[in-house]
Amino acid sequence: MSGHSTYHYKNPVVRWIDSRLPIISAMRSNALDFPTPKNLNYFWTFGGILTLFLAIQIVTGIVLAMHYTPHVDLAFASVEHIMRDVNYGWLIRYMHANGASFFFIAVYIHIFRGLYYGSYKAPRELIWMIGVVILLLMMATAFMGYVLPWGQMSFWGATVITNLFSAIPLVGTSIVEWLWGGFAVGNPTLNRFFSLHYLLPFVLAAVVFLHIWALHVPGNNNPTGVDVKSKKDTVPFHPYYTVKDLFAIVVFLVFYAAFVFYMPNFLGHPDNYIPANPLVTPAHIVPEWYFLPFYAILRAIPDKLGGVLAMFASIGVLFLLPWLDTSKIRSATFRPLYRQFFWILVLVCIGLGYLGAMPAEGGYVIAARILTTYYFVHFLVILPLLGIFEKTKPLPPSISESVLAKGGGAGSAVATGAAAAPERQG
Ligand code: HEM
Repeated sequence: MSGHSTYHYKNPVVRWIDSRLPIISAMRSNALDFPTPKNLNYFWTFGGILTLFLAIQIVTGIVLAMHYTPHVDLAFASVEHIMRDVNYGWLIRYMHANGASFFFIAVYIHIFRGLYYGSYKAPRELIWMIGVVILLLMMATAFMGYVLPWGQMSFWGATVITNLFSAIPLVGTSIVEWLWGGFAVGNPTLNRFFSLHYLLPFVLAAVVFLHIWALHVPGNNNPTGVDVKSKKDTVPFHPYYTVKDLFAIVVFLVFYAAFVFYMPNFLGHPDNYIPANPLVTPAHIVPEWYFLPFYAILRAIPDKLGGVLAMFASIGVLFLLPWLDTSKIRSATFRPLYRQFFWILVLVCIGLGYLGAMPAEGGYVIAARILTTYYFVHFLVILPLLGIFEKTKPLPPSISESVLAKGGGAGSAVATGAAAAPERQG
């Protein structure tokens, strides 16, 4: 990403800048000419979609912050003021609120893509681990953002989640009061959540930069999981993947627009249109949909501290994944048994999401306990053993040969342009 320019520019201004700060050649080699496996399917477009959504959230968030007031007596009314009085305020707010949901849809697809194709395996462990940090930052940002409208779910969600820290032995209560800035969720809490909710997306942007930097060292994994062996296996990022990413972005934006314009409150909870009232507890306190699987894990354990630990461990285990999966083969395409377990894991996560929305009682709790146990067994028992016992399928000799064997069909939308591509890279 850095170093001296290897390009010679005709334009004297560009040449002047680039010889002093090689930012233009860095962009060219990392975004335009970057050799990219020619067989990437549409699941590889979600990194670009995520980058766009981070930008959408930051831009809409900055505009919202111009009209929002972080005070317990004014926050709810200031949001209604945005919705009714500010020009296109309703649009900015609905883009931001639904943008958070679509950000999470994209990130979950991005993560499961990584799980399916073994993108977390060497040499991409650090890309993956930085990704897990990104996920945690996204969760913290979304949680604090949800508190800002100061509706019933904002207040009670904040109360439930901050109270979790009281489960820490000895210092728990002190930590919770320190988080609150008082003896209950109140004005100091709302103020600091606003401050951090504004700050964290920029931290997120910096960490995303590291994520993509780390990605550009080994380059992309691909659906076969086979390493790039020659120039024949790759095409330049532009125009092949710029066009493919753009197409995927447009399709994704159509779904996003459908929610923003036609069902902007579908993914939210109606109780959040009731101003926060510390004296009235809602019948069911539920988080936003993207937290539901973790909420189910939290409530599955009968002990409070145990629940908190299990919830954090469900993400913590992802940090260890590159070493828990002992298989030498990356892609599930050539791992018939792993493929089955992958789909079971997908169903288990959806099941946990469903249970997180249900009341924590009777059969629901039993089911949540079974699925939580399975979640950890998948990572801690099944994956290490599969690598040893699974009989894998033979790998194709190279990416280009696997593309040719398919006749440029499914999973290789750029294959037809590939023959001419290597020359362009030189
Ligand atoms: C704001 C959130 C994120 C952004 C903007 C982002 C961006 C990107 C981009 C642009 C790529 C390259 C294109 C692609 O493979 O789709 C990528 C690859 C990757 N990301 Fe992310 N990412 C995010 C979150 C995550 C998370 C949460 C994880 C995992 C926990 C993750 C794991 C990976 C991995 C393993 C790769 C390499 C994929 C491969 O080459 O097969 N990312 N990311």
